[in-house]
Amino acid sequence: MSKLWGGRFTGEIDSLVYDFNASISFDKRMYRQDIKGSIVHAGMLGKCGIIPQEDSDAIVKGLKGILSDLESGKLVIDESMEDIHSFVESELTSRIGDAGKKLHTGRSRNDQVALDIKLYIRDYIDELDKKIKELQNTLCSIIENNLETFMPGFTHMQKAQPVTLAHHMSAYFEMFKRDRSRLFDIRKRMNLCPLGSGALAGTTYPLDRDYVAKELGFDGPTVNSMDSVSDRDHIVELLAALSTIMMHLSRFSEEIIIWNSNEYRFVEISDAYSTGSSIMPQKKNPDIAELVRGKTGRVYGALMSMLTTLKGTPLAYNKDMQEDKEMFFDAADTVLNCVVLFNGMLSTITFNKKIMEESAKNGFTNATDVADYLVLKNIPFRDAHRIVGELVLLCIEKGCALDDLSLDELKKYSPVIEQDIYEAISMKTCVMKRCTQGAPGPEAMKKVILAYKDYLSK
Ligand code: ARG
Repeated sequence: MSKLWGGRFTGEIDSLVYDFNASISFDKRMYRQDIKGSIVHAGMLGKCGIIPQEDSDAIVKGLKGILSDLESGKLVIDESMEDIHSFVESELTSRIGDAGKKLHTGRSRNDQVALDIKLYIRDYIDELDKKIKELQNTLCSIIENNLETFMPGFTHMQKAQPVTLAHHMSAYFEMFKRDRSRLFDIRKRMNLCPLGSGALAGTTYPLDRDYVAKELGFDGPTVNSMDSVSDRDHIVELLAALSTIMMHLSRFSEEIIIWNSNEYRFVEISDAYSTGSSIMPQKKNPDIAELVRGKTGRVYGALMSMLTTLKGTPLAYNKDMQEDKEMFFDAADTVLNCVVLFNGMLSTITFNKKIMEESAKNGFTNATDVADYLVLKNIPFRDAHRIVGELVLLCIEKGCALDDLSLDELKKYSPVIEQDIYEAISMKTCVMKRCTQGAPGPEAMKKVILAYKDYLSK
């Protein structure tokens, strides 16, 4: 096969070495970005008089033809080539002749691949952001419809205080808001164009780097050519952000799995998003949630792998950097799939509101509110805490809830208790009264929904 670098060699490369070195099997997915970069580079070479304008025009036309033939399936990538850059250049030359050989003037595959991956990441971030936003839309409609769907809030996996489903879902909405803002930050920080950095030390041709950067939608060219060809920070940062997204999805999945268990029965996962067992006919398993939780491991793995690959590489480009792609692509595909599948599962899930509400009522989730009631009647909080502790003990002995105790029983523990306590500690009141900013009370949550709608409209 024809190589971009054959001239200096007299012997043939060992075929195992060729395969070991080749990257086309995985970098072929960057063909769009590669061609886009080449089109702008060739245009600039013509505009700056570095190559004749007619050659530049022929290259641009040739590249556009290659792109449309690849998109339509008329042209198939030849995987015997070393990498996507070699494939595009040799296809171009076979189509337009010698002018094609001028495309690589003032460029190295080192700055070319650095550009390709940045363009790829930008496209990927835009797509992922859209999918996370769709998930937030699903969350927002669950929130709107469940302002008064009561459920227990937990600490230490023990029932703590009653909350609402809307409030619980809004916690995840917040996590995904941070995820999206992390993606936005990464996109902004990496948005400098490396093309024109050459192999490592720039070039002697009078390239117009500002023009190339602008044409490709960057905020400007990178500042240091050695850094440009060896910088993979954006991949590390993105993998860290992807890991955080997976961590959020995994925690959410864990809750769905628990809620779906026979003991909880808070949710029913739609048939379309569950699977059965080959032996136990009664089973309906939450496989999607489990897979999302499981796949979190491989995304974390990609982050560790990337950091480790980079840690010993001296300036500037080293072939180690080719290892940035497979792990990253795998993590990127995994996260995109997980967000889409999770959204599908969530948007078709049924919440068993009755069971949730029943569960919120028992487990003494209103104990804090009994103490708060006593405080309002001028009992110091520490004393109130002790009194309620004793009342809980009594309830455990009797096998009842705090609201089930008679006024006489209650008065034995504190004479300030009156009939109004029942209203004060009903589960509904417990939630409704919690209207501080960020709390589950529907009045507080209504303001949150307004803010979410505004956020989602942008
Ligand atoms: N395939 C390489 C990579 O992914 C790009 C080519 C740079 N190769 C080179 N011999 N300088 O990093």
